[in-house]
Amino acid sequence: MKNIAVIGVGYVGLVTGVCFADLGNRVVCVDINEEKIEGLKKGIMPIYEPGLEELVARNVRAGRLSFTTSYAEGLKEAEFVFIAVGTPEGVDGEADLQYVRMAARSIAELMDHPMIIVNKSTVPVGTGDWVADIVREYRNSDVEFAVVSNPEFLREGSAISDFMYPDRVVLGSLNREAAEKVAQLYLPLRAPIMITDLRTAEMIKYASNAFLATRISFINEIANICEALGADVKEVATGMGYDKRIGHAFLDAGVGYGGSCFPKDVKALAYMAEIKGRHPQLLRAVMEINNYQRRAVVRKLEEALGTLRGKTIGLLGLAFKPNTDDMREAPSVHIANMLFAAGAKVRGYDPVAMRNARRVAPQIELADDAYSLAAGCDAIVVVTEWNEFKQLDLERIRDLMNRPVLIDGRNIYDPATMRELGFYYRGMGRGYEDSGAERR
Ligand code: UDX
Repeated sequence: MKNIAVIGVGYVGLVTGVCFADLGNRVVCVDINEEKIEGLKKGIMPIYEPGLEELVARNVRAGRLSFTTSYAEGLKEAEFVFIAVGTPEGVDGEADLQYVRMAARSIAELMDHPMIIVNKSTVPVGTGDWVADIVREYRNSDVEFAVVSNPEFLREGSAISDFMYPDRVVLGSLNREAAEKVAQLYLPLRAPIMITDLRTAEMIKYASNAFLATRISFINEIANICEALGADVKEVATGMGYDKRIGHAFLDAGVGYGGSCFPKDVKALAYMAEIKGRHPQLLRAVMEINNYQRRAVVRKLEEALGTLRGKTIGLLGLAFKPNTDDMREAPSVHIANMLFAAGAKVRGYDPVAMRNARRVAPQIELADDAYSLAAGCDAIVVVTEWNEFKQLDLERIRDLMNRPVLIDGRNIYDPATMRELGFYYRGMGRGYEDSGAERR
């Protein structure tokens, strides 16, 4: 059993804290947000994540997990301090490090015994060295410390199993011994553990996310070409994926990536390259294609309805992906804004993200379920591929709509079946019809 403090109870911090507690360590989670901490003490989760609430409750009951707003209390016995605070996007795509700076300074000011500071927040390459500088500047004594970078690869919606069954654990430090101590914490997971230097570990995170985003933009570009040539991108991706060198994951064409990581990390990596005089052409193309996917949906609606002025469009799904209530960089918001600009009325429904949607996009009129959303709509766009949308009574949906126009931004329906049901149906990259092109 080790004593661990985790600073920041967002997705990464909370999941990291509770999972380390579940592995038998004593974990104190620290956050300056009193509302979040008070809620957690009462068992109220600040985020929606399957399995999280039960795991938190179990470990609190077992006395291994606690929450506090006090750094002093959190750090008192900690041998390891994980920094997992937010690194939002700043100006120009540069990551905003104010919360990391605050955390590093607070740790330094209270440090009265040796500590290993482990950085989990996604931070620009070089931040680990900068954190070490801050700690050296603000610590009161010469007490020993080391900084280790330990990037997270958790996906929202499956964050707990991603933590417990990682493909790999990456640790970077100039202090090998410290990195090896952190490695011990991960040994029960029986995953490959890679130890490298600080900057390389930080870069692995950016390169991984940028590569995954590139796969998505790649398949979206292929989808657009499929529309022009009469091929079906879903089949194309399946056929490609059988090649072991390619694989099936992250080849779903659609409205493009969103969320708190990919958009921010691709931009930040491009920014880091540019300020060093490099030309990240591929990363720029990845971002451009992603933006284009949102516009493509609006273009498909215009093809179906003519002008969008005065039309009512229903967005089926608002979260940036299923199994989360996260609306950060959600394609639904970008699409809604373009629709508003074109003079349309926008309605929306999501199984869990309605509360966040109300906050982030108050102009979207919310419906109680998919059927009340459909009533009176001139078109529906599937923006998030929630499972519950795959089994809708589509005849009922069709009959409730002003016009049976459905743009399937996630390719969850079968085009032939939808047309048989009498829908004007357009997917993303599923043959000639999707681009409005004539078959020749
Ligand atoms: C991602 C990374 O997967 C994770 O390793 C990292 O640490 C944080 O960022 P997350 O943002 O939770 O996790 O979502 P993810 O499941 O990776 O999906 C990202 C976006 O890509 C979503 O908007 C999703 O809809 C989109 N996507 C994903 C596609 O459009 N097509 C695909 O084939 C896969």
